[in-house]
Amino acid sequence: MRILLHTVRNTKPFLQQCLSTQVHKGIVLGLHSDNKLSSGSKATISVAEQQHILEQAQALGHTGEPGTVQLMLNPARTRQIALVGLGSNKDESLSEVTRAAVAEGIKKLHANKVKEVSIGPMPCSRAAAEGATLGLYTFDKFKTHEKHEATEVTFIEDKDVAAGKVCAEAQNWARDLMNTPANHMTPQIFARCVEEQLGGLENVTVNVYDKQWVEDQRMGGLLAVSKGSEEPLRFVEIIYRGHASADQVPLAMVGKGITFDTGGYSIKPGKHMDLMKGDMGGGATVAAAMRAIAQLQLPINVVATIPLCENMISGGATKVSDIYTSRAGLTVEVMNTDAEGRVVLADALHYTVEKHQPSAIIDVATLTGAMVMALGELYTGVFTPSPALWSRIEGASKGSDEPVWRMPLHDAWDAMLKSPVADLSNIGNKSEAGACTAAAFLRHFVRDSRAVKKQGTLARDQNNDESLPRWAHLDIAGPMEATTSAGYHHRGMSGRPTRLLIELASQLAKNPIS
Ligand code: BES
Ligand code: ZN
Ligand code: ZN
Repeated sequence: MRILLHTVRNTKPFLQQCLSTQVHKGIVLGLHSDNKLSSGSKATISVAEQQHILEQAQALGHTGEPGTVQLMLNPARTRQIALVGLGSNKDESLSEVTRAAVAEGIKKLHANKVKEVSIGPMPCSRAAAEGATLGLYTFDKFKTHEKHEATEVTFIEDKDVAAGKVCAEAQNWARDLMNTPANHMTPQIFARCVEEQLGGLENVTVNVYDKQWVEDQRMGGLLAVSKGSEEPLRFVEIIYRGHASADQVPLAMVGKGITFDTGGYSIKPGKHMDLMKGDMGGGATVAAAMRAIAQLQLPINVVATIPLCENMISGGATKVSDIYTSRAGLTVEVMNTDAEGRVVLADALHYTVEKHQPSAIIDVATLTGAMVMALGELYTGVFTPSPALWSRIEGASKGSDEPVWRMPLHDAWDAMLKSPVADLSNIGNKSEAGACTAAAFLRHFVRDSRAVKKQGTLARDQNNDESLPRWAHLDIAGPMEATTSAGYHHRGMSGRPTRLLIELASQLAKNPIS
């Protein structure tokens, strides 16, 4: 055992010395478990080189197992090769395996001082482009010394590679927005970032509204949550018209944009409070998805809204038991100031339904700790009364490899949201089903009295409740964070599920829900 440890400790510097002194070029190649290089490799490297690589792989015991990477030099010693395991080429998880493998390969080469990397042919070129782009992500803008050195990546370009880069860059932007601490990512700064990133894109309009507008809109919930903060609130609206007809009924997305959540007077414990700089993760992923949707010029109309504020404590902050009137006209008793996400989302949902009369509306929110307990980091919990919308979200999840799990909505939870003095309480009156009661709360606000009369915008498959448009609530409290680094995941804020949202818009563009 001691010898083994000794060997391991000494191998790394030796390898690094051999590989990194001169050779600053690299390539990522894929090895399947049948000892074959991923198809198409012939076009990129010579037969002699291929033979050399396969011999080396065999000698070093590299069997193409997913998650394994072997570094080697080409015979001419002019470039480093990261041979990444891809498993069977018939595996149905091949796209996710490729995404993770390319990320691991490129990270190893980067660590070995490679400055220029080309990605060899991969079974899923889009996933490979995503893996490379997500894998090279770093968040070092606040480091003054340890700056990450840039790596130049070249691909065998095709349409899928270009789309993969756009999607992964969007996720990286969402990661940046979420990782940036709240003093550098206030509601005003967030709104400015959206204007900078999306304002100039074709067919995009960005509207940034201030407190006066929110007052005019009677968004009592957003006003109640923002009251404790000195940072001015913002309400961002992004309108993308990609469909040939500007009147196509749009898809709508709403993102929770709490730039920091202290909990307010129902204050959070100190441990892990830092995570709450990412409480605008719903807003970040929605904004990032909109950027990609517009860059790809998907043929669909999409609108997004993001209510932005801090949840703080001050002499002016909302107190427990305060009652406010929401935009929908329902009065709400704030029984817990930490249940602020549903309060701001309720107004945003109501506005978006009424203003844009969408065909479907999806809200994305880091909403409940209960969701983290239930599904953990891997799965997004999806609450929707619409089987049709659920099946599209599930389809998009298969496309982006970001897992979703359907959660229940039930009228019984409405009883738990009763308040003796107002129309609703903002929390359930029992300590159970916390993620479900949050969804049940939101459901009250997804309505528009005018929509009832308007044909075409109504769901026909929602428990016969025709006053509701098709709606889904995505609780991303679990997947907002990556607690460990592996493959293309980096410890920190995840930027998930940006790619799922883009995929959903892309699939709905091709095949709208009838
Ligand atoms: N932003 C939190 C939810 C959260 C918790 C996200 C942990 C990610 C990780 C949300 O505003 C919140 O505090 N919710 C409360 C609701 C409760 C008071 C009913 C919660 O989940 O504890
Ligand atoms: Zn909270
Ligand atoms: Zn919150």
